[in-house]
Amino acid sequence: MTETVVDVHLTAADAAQSLRADVRAGLTASPKWLSPKYFYDARGSRLFEDITRLPEYYPTRAEREVLAERAVEIAVTTGARRLVELGSGSSEKTRLLLTALTSAGTLREFVPLDVSASALREAAASVVADYPGLTVHGVVGDFTQHLGLLPPSDSRLVAFLGGTVGNLIPEEREKFLRSVRDVLGTGEWLLLGTDLVKAPDVLVRAYDDARGVTAEFNRNVLLVLNRELDGNFDVDDFAHVARWNAEQEWIEMRLRARRPVRARLGALDLDVEFAEGEELRTEVSAKFRRDRVESELRAAGFELHRWWTDSRQRFAVSLARAAG
Ligand code: AVJ
Repeated sequence: MTETVVDVHLTAADAAQSLRADVRAGLTASPKWLSPKYFYDARGSRLFEDITRLPEYYPTRAEREVLAERAVEIAVTTGARRLVELGSGSSEKTRLLLTALTSAGTLREFVPLDVSASALREAAASVVADYPGLTVHGVVGDFTQHLGLLPPSDSRLVAFLGGTVGNLIPEEREKFLRSVRDVLGTGEWLLLGTDLVKAPDVLVRAYDDARGVTAEFNRNVLLVLNRELDGNFDVDDFAHVARWNAEQEWIEMRLRARRPVRARLGALDLDVEFAEGEELRTEVSAKFRRDRVESELRAAGFELHRWWTDSRQRFAVSLARAAG
């Protein structure tokens, strides 16, 4: 017997409300910024999938290498009965974990949490088809806001992969890691993917590829605003910028106005002006060292149990336990 349930904690109306509040805050701030969560409409999600296959964008392949090598060890170490995946998106890497955990014989339930109800239903259906006997309990929600709405449970492994934790700024990250710890009981597990600090030219190329796919992905956020907020941005007015911030140890993606720009967001009754050369920050993607991951985990109430990297030490996967 298999079963699929999807709980909706984030309705389309809630999501629209957060978008309006976030965009107003970011575009009236100085310097201007937007949250990277708004990249991922259908086109943005497709462009991100394309990015993961680019020669310059190594994180996806590096993380997959670690998971392929360590999935059995993760399953045996955790003995998890439930796999909770935050920001599940495409579930290809998750399958490495699902396969190992079902082979180990402990897994009963898969709990993917994602902002996209449609992505979640698709993922749930295909996982149920491929892992007979597994219960799938999807949760539509935002991992920065709705962890408290996960079904109460035990014996969980929470996976947060892809290096997405790097898209949170340090204070958001601290709050997020604590909120994960707060929903877990002592002894439950967190599996965290983090991209690592490396030569700046390698990092910049990963976010400014030769084919311009990342540039399209970056500019797509303006099309999201046009559609969702009745905007009139011309994406050709903006150049893609990827820059290494050595002090913060993060990559920043920005959109730079090629000329003076005036745009209107009708749904916000907001006029936005850019001077020529003015930049809008659309993403930070923090890169880590082991010390920082370990100390941030400890500060949030996790004990680092295992640290694995790919063979070229580009990307790390940490297995941590909720401390008592
Ligand atoms: C997988 C969401 C973490 O920051 O590397 C890829 C998103 N942005 N290229 C990252 C992204 C630009 C990606 N995350």
